[in-house]
Amino acid sequence: MKLLVCGGAGFIGSNFVRQRVVDHGDAVTVLDKLTYAGREENLADLRDREGFAFVRAGIEDADAVAQAIDGVDAVVNFAAETHVDRSIAEPDAFVRTHAVGTWVLLEAARAAGVRYLQVSTDEVYGSIEEGSFSESSPLAPSSPYSATKAGADLLVSSYFHTYGLQTVICRGSNNYGPYQYPEKLIPLMILNALHGDRLPVYGDGMQVRNWLYVEDFGRAIGHVLEHGAPGEVYNVGGPDECPNIEVVKRIIELTGADEGQLEYVTDRPGHDRRYSLGSEKIRALGWEPQVDFSQGLEQTVSWYRDNPAWWEPIRSGDYREYYERQYGSKIKD
Ligand SMILES: NC(=O)c1ccc[n+]([C@@H]2O[C@H](COP(=O)([O-])OP(=O)(O)OC[C@H]3O[C@@H](n4cnc5c(N)ncnc54)[C@H](O)[C@@H]3O)[C@@H](O)[C@H]2O)c1
Repeated sequence: MKLLVCGGAGFIGSNFVRQRVVDHGDAVTVLDKLTYAGREENLADLRDREGFAFVRAGIEDADAVAQAIDGVDAVVNFAAETHVDRSIAEPDAFVRTHAVGTWVLLEAARAAGVRYLQVSTDEVYGSIEEGSFSESSPLAPSSPYSATKAGADLLVSSYFHTYGLQTVICRGSNNYGPYQYPEKLIPLMILNALHGDRLPVYGDGMQVRNWLYVEDFGRAIGHVLEHGAPGEVYNVGGPDECPNIEVVKRIIELTGADEGQLEYVTDRPGHDRRYSLGSEKIRALGWEPQVDFSQGLEQTVSWYRDNPAWWEPIRSGDYREYYERQYGSKIKD
């Protein structure tokens, strides 16, 4: 297969591209704007592979997209602003990328007559106290991040119904694993734990997430691309649910950090209490997660411990300013 992978230099996108190039022998063009979260270093091992190409551009750039889409079989769109805290402080880029960017990609896919897969999130359903969301649950997003992602999903579905574009949507639960930018809970806590920094937990830490190892999500997206039915949505939930405070305590154990580093901080406004996805539909299609949370978390801690060359430039760059603004304290050198 020949794929155009948008946002392929970010966390999930780069893991997905690695699977497609190495395990499936696909030719992949990555189109990525390289925002603070996207890094070419995430794809460094693939740079010299035959069939791999990288284009630096935004998905809202219609000319760049039209060139990059030429000759591909399908478009997979990961490109997004992904941090809820940033969407609360500065929603502009979320609207631009999720609304305008998705529209530009859909138009290009329509003109080229190629399949289109949108990568989406469980956050579009909002919070659920008990049970799990199915693909037909109503969308009830709480943050500018999830609201603009929900808008993008609706636009994608409209292109199936209105123009017959062959679309599929994959809604994943919270991902974790290698190459995740340290503003997100798990890498933030791992790096702070390893450095002896405080471990800031929002509110009471009882927000429950349905953790999905990034390689399992990549396999699900590949599976839906090959076997999914046009016009359908597939939920991709992880095998385990765990409250944030429990995640942090497990990281403390795995890194040998001190429980005294834990600090409860003011909760995020509109913070969803619990996400949970029912994944029966994609399981019926033949996918299931292979990595449970204990194993995945151990692998993730080892990866961050073994790859300081990946995170040192981040922790010593603009991220420090973001961190100070967000948590009102400094991280150690
Ligand atoms: N991280 C999660 O837990 C999770 C869970 C479910 C779904 N998702 C979805 O998966 C996708 C990828 O998430 P991630 O965690 O890898 O995010 P990320 O922030 O690590 O990566 C996003 C990538 O998109 C690129 N990008 C941003 N705006 C762009 C634009 N306008 N044009 C081109 N490229 C642009 C960035 O440079 C970066 O490489 C997103 O759509 C997100 O909503 C994430």
